[in-house]
Amino acid sequence: MNKAANASANAAKGPTNAVDKKVVLAYSGGLDTSVMIAWIKEKYGLSTVAVLIDAGRAAGLEEHRQKALTIGAVEAVVVDAKEEFAQDFILPALAANALYEDKYVLVSALSRPLICKKMVEAAHESGAGTIAHGCTAKGNDQVRFDLGIRSLDPSLKILAPAREWNMTREQALDYAAERGIPIPLKKDSPYSIDENLWGRTVECGPLEDPWLDPPEDAFAVTAAPVAAPDEPAYMEITFEAGVPAALNGMKLPLVDLINAVDALAGAHGYGRVDMMENRLVGIKSREVYETPGALALIMAHKEIEDITLPRELLHFKRPLEQKFADMTYNGGWYDPLMDALRAFMAETQKRVSGDVRLKFFKGSCTVSGRKSPNSLYDFGLATYGGEDAFSHDAATGFCELWGLPLEVWAKKSK
Ligand code: ARG
Repeated sequence: MNKAANASANAAKGPTNAVDKKVVLAYSGGLDTSVMIAWIKEKYGLSTVAVLIDAGRAAGLEEHRQKALTIGAVEAVVVDAKEEFAQDFILPALAANALYEDKYVLVSALSRPLICKKMVEAAHESGAGTIAHGCTAKGNDQVRFDLGIRSLDPSLKILAPAREWNMTREQALDYAAERGIPIPLKKDSPYSIDENLWGRTVECGPLEDPWLDPPEDAFAVTAAPVAAPDEPAYMEITFEAGVPAALNGMKLPLVDLINAVDALAGAHGYGRVDMMENRLVGIKSREVYETPGALALIMAHKEIEDITLPRELLHFKRPLEQKFADMTYNGGWYDPLMDALRAFMAETQKRVSGDVRLKFFKGSCTVSGRKSPNSLYDFGLATYGGEDAFSHDAATGFCELWGLPLEVWAKKSK
């Protein structure tokens, strides 16, 4: 008996006594979740409703839907959740300039709570008592799924076959072949990839050596910086109350705007991230991301905040942004603290309006201009020229009192 068969014979956990006979599976169309449709039937005698969630940049959805039915799913549905992802997940994250460990825009971490919400809705609609997901035991995504589902409907059971079956990729391929489950036709990629409107994540294969320069074939949406155009490109993004509303003066729906920024920034080689990341489960892992649009939008958004928000608010907001990113990363999207953080962030965005000009050139992105009807930049106060309106006299007294405690301390310390 191989390891996989052994595992499935021994493990008797899961919803064996479930009154319902239906599972809704967060189906990706990949090998693992395809195998799961058969495995769930064999192991637990449950029928699977396959649910494909489109959070942007999903390819071959209809093909995958058909495949799920071929494998034996009793139902297979595609849920277009792009708009909801943009409005309810990306926008709050942008308001919080959310970056995990200062680098990762939370591509997967943001989409998992959306997927949970859609899966819970699907379970309610189809009368299923269990939600199944394809996550393994080593990643963050399992945590996000489990916590998300439990927060939204604690009565639902959760099934994570890949956490139970202990199959290697080869064993999963054998399992599929034995049962006539279609195996992905295209050349087997060494990478594990997750992709949505907010970017693309790449893990595994050669990237597991943190010293190795990421091979060019790890990237799909960014040009190699050396091969990017030799002329810089400029982009103007208009924000209205924290929301990116127009690109180069043209109003665009949010999803289209994100896609357009992503395409242009990526074409100029911007948006590649290579980092050592601390996973919630205690593992350090080397992660590669391609997130040109998200990084450019966060950069532009921060800039409009810098010209429209006062110092104390900006400085107070910073650690809360980090908390927001950590909570999201760690599966806490539906935690009441996140409701409070989102409310705080929303309050800060009311006057965050204006235009930012970004310059892209061979892998770099820099802010090259900013303006706002709510600008707190006062030329008269800032200028060193003849129009100076700053009170130089008041500065002397200001310094005297501001430095007073230091002076007292210094005298006493002598
Ligand atoms: N390390 C990233 C995160 O935890 C990326 C995860 C990608 N997920 C995946 N199933 N390939 O958010």
